[in-house]
Amino acid sequence: MELEQALTGRRSIRQYTDAPVTAEQIREIVDLARFAPTWKNTQTARYHAALDPAVKEQIAAEGTMQFSKNSSNIRSAAALVVLTTVDGIAGYEPDGTPTTPKGDHWQSFDAGIACQTFCLAAYGKGLGTLIMGIFDEAKIAEILHIPAGERISALIAVGYPAVDPAAPKRRETGEILEIIG
Ligand SMILES: Cc1cc2nc3c(=O)[nH]c(=O)nc-3n(C[C@H](O)[C@H](O)[C@H](O)COP(=O)(O)O)c2cc1C
Repeated sequence: MELEQALTGRRSIRQYTDAPVTAEQIREIVDLARFAPTWKNTQTARYHAALDPAVKEQIAAEGTMQFSKNSSNIRSAAALVVLTTVDGIAGYEPDGTPTTPKGDHWQSFDAGIACQTFCLAAYGKGLGTLIMGIFDEAKIAEILHIPAGERISALIAVGYPAVDPAAPKRRETGEILEIIG
């Protein structure tokens, strides 16, 4: 797949077919996503993949802060990946002091790069994804037994798309780019 096609063609998918996604497929996606760049190559992203429908259902029912659209999104997808980052490393010196005035900003920054890399890798394998930011972190950590010291950055639904949505309107390049010259 051409890179430009992947960058423009990836969409947020909110309806999936019933086709299963295997653990091996998730493994292959993470095998690519681990090449995402990270703060000082600290590689703090972790991927917790829920394929069991009962576990997914519990997250859909109890882990979305009553945001029913995300409950539906999770129920529709064959897999749910909970993306976490190990806390207090990206952006910090080994003794725990922040390297820059931006503190833990870099942890989220790395998680975002990891997330999009995961989604593009999935897209390259014919799978759709949806990044979700509305979730109950404490509840999902409890359901999945997320290790202490990891923070949940995002949920990623994964499955075979049942729809082919048009791209939501983007700002024009001239609106967001300033060439200083
Ligand atoms: C950090 C982040 C959080 C998001 N949270 C949600 C969410 O909770 N539920 C949802 O349906 N979509 C969510 N989205 C998807 C965006 O709505 C979507 O990316 C945007 O509308 C652009 O559409 P596209 O991904 O198809 O290009 C989120 C996206 C990002 C990057």
